[in-house]
Amino acid sequence: MITAYDSLFAKLFDGEIDIILVGDSLNMSFRGEQDTLSANMEIMLYHTKAVCNGSKNSFIIADMPFGSTVNKEIALQNSIRFYNETCADAIKIEGGIERTDIIKYLTDNGIAVCGHIGLMPQNVRGDGGYFVRGRDEISQEKLIRDAKALENAGVFLIVLEGVLENVAKQITESVSIPVIGIGAGKYVDGQVLVWSDMLGFFIDFKPKFVKQYLNGGELVKKAVKNYSDEVKNGDFPTRENIYK
Ligand code: KIV
Repeated sequence: MITAYDSLFAKLFDGEIDIILVGDSLNMSFRGEQDTLSANMEIMLYHTKAVCNGSKNSFIIADMPFGSTVNKEIALQNSIRFYNETCADAIKIEGGIERTDIIKYLTDNGIAVCGHIGLMPQNVRGDGGYFVRGRDEISQEKLIRDAKALENAGVFLIVLEGVLENVAKQITESVSIPVIGIGAGKYVDGQVLVWSDMLGFFIDFKPKFVKQYLNGGELVKKAVKNYSDEVKNGDFPTRENIYK
């Protein structure tokens, strides 16, 4: 799984990657905000539509933004908007056992729901920061309870973020649905990375768990400097770059 926020990159990822997640991480890496909390339904619908325009083969999951699932009815209305207005195959909701009433209501009403537990970026202000989960027994047990509760509520997939590898293994073994890890080690069923982190376009910081497969930021900077220099010194445009 990889995130995408627009048609341009969705087209490049399409078919190479099983699942494209239109994650609310776009609020940080694409919109330049400090956290994901100011992403709203209109923003998520806009980006999901753009991804749909680029991807014809991958399974598309749209993130429910902060505040869009505060109760059953609001959560259902907002989920239905993704199905009515975009091509999303499923939606993703952050939260464990405390959100399973809402999640069950959605799955009972025909919505395909992906869960998201462990480090939940939408809780950053409530939690007072981002930190790894599963360091003590109480939090390990809670994570396993969360995963089982989500499975019972009908979710088809769980994203597990920022969890110690041995704990992620136990969580994965405790449920029969697939668990996709991010910063959760290798004993899960699949991996997800934020595209702009793994391709090196997000240059503010690199999370420790990310492997950079491309230094996109450096390549782009070099290319635009080259362009600017060539315009200034008259090397661009040449006869190759004009209409004849
Ligand atoms: O918003 C997002 O991109 C996510 C991933 C980090 C899993 O939720």
